[in-house]
Amino acid sequence: MNPEANSDEAREMDLARQKDEAREKIDACADSAALKDVERHYLGRKGIVASALAGIGQLPPDERKDAGQNANRLKQAIQELVDARARVLDETSLAAERSGAGFDPTLPAARLESGSLHPVTQVTRELEDLFLSMGYSVLDGPEVELDHYNFEALNIPADHPARDSHDTFFCTAEGSKDAAEQLVMRTHTSPVQVRAMEQLEPPFRVIAPGRCFRQETTDASHDHTFYQMEGMVVGRDISVGHLIGAMRTLLRGIFKQDLDVRLRPGYFPFVEPGFELDARCPFCEDGCSVCKRTTWIELLPCGLVHPNVLRAGGIDSDIWSGFAFGLGLSRLVMLRYGVDDVRHLFGGDLRFLEQF
Ligand code: DAH
Repeated sequence: MNPEANSDEAREMDLARQKDEAREKIDACADSAALKDVERHYLGRKGIVASALAGIGQLPPDERKDAGQNANRLKQAIQELVDARARVLDETSLAAERSGAGFDPTLPAARLESGSLHPVTQVTRELEDLFLSMGYSVLDGPEVELDHYNFEALNIPADHPARDSHDTFFCTAEGSKDAAEQLVMRTHTSPVQVRAMEQLEPPFRVIAPGRCFRQETTDASHDHTFYQMEGMVVGRDISVGHLIGAMRTLLRGIFKQDLDVRLRPGYFPFVEPGFELDARCPFCEDGCSVCKRTTWIELLPCGLVHPNVLRAGGIDSDIWSGFAFGLGLSRLVMLRYGVDDVRHLFGGDLRFLEQF
């Protein structure tokens, strides 16, 4: 008898036996977890096929080739059996789910989550549209601002008491630099007035919505970060009448009704005269919690641009005049939607944001 043929035959038989044994185990798997276990047993890193391959080096050289081929055939055969079983298991579990008691095709599908614009963004865009329709342009300015634009050019020189009320975040140590080079987080959008005058030739109308910062202890009506919208109109013979007219149009756009306005004196170094503009409460006729029973709501500070400010912006104050206003956007959003705490706006709580 040919001993070589003998050992070949023995190997063939061994291979067939191993394959049968594997088939039996694989077919017996009732779920994919059991199948994974069997797969690991044969094909895993320390499984039967891997150790057979690892042992090849110990065989006599003339047997190695066959042994290697056999191990690889076994590996391929088992992989095919495992894949076939996995398909069968998938189909059965899907069929069971479709026909089984736990499957209810009438259940509503999972809700699709969709995002929405932040209320401050919504109100900002609405106001931008309104002012664009009135011939204004929308400008942008830096949030980290030079002291010159945030204060100096707005008629608030270094030792002016109005600076105290601004609770400024300084980016360069206070007083460490020449005022002209000092950087601050802008405390209002008014610096964009000066940038507008530098960029544009009068006459012009601009608004500048944006984020402002103050080093403030936060409470229900104060946050260290908030939004304002600056407005500025420069032309010939601009008067308080123009200002009031523009503000009435603004109110009609926001509250969709004609509201009376009144002016109270207000002091801001960059306007003269300066005012606080109030509007009739849009929510009541004889007093409510929004207007604190006064029937008036404080809407915005405004005034006629101070000649010093025009000059700082390079505009001849003998020829040109203007008005300006500073609308508190965060406050307007609160009024509009009845939000009682400014900190909700940027607290990042989805339960709040999902309402818009
Ligand atoms: N910038 C001022 C502030 O935040 C608000 C302000 C007042 C803006 C009067 C104006 C204005 O344009 O005319 O305190």
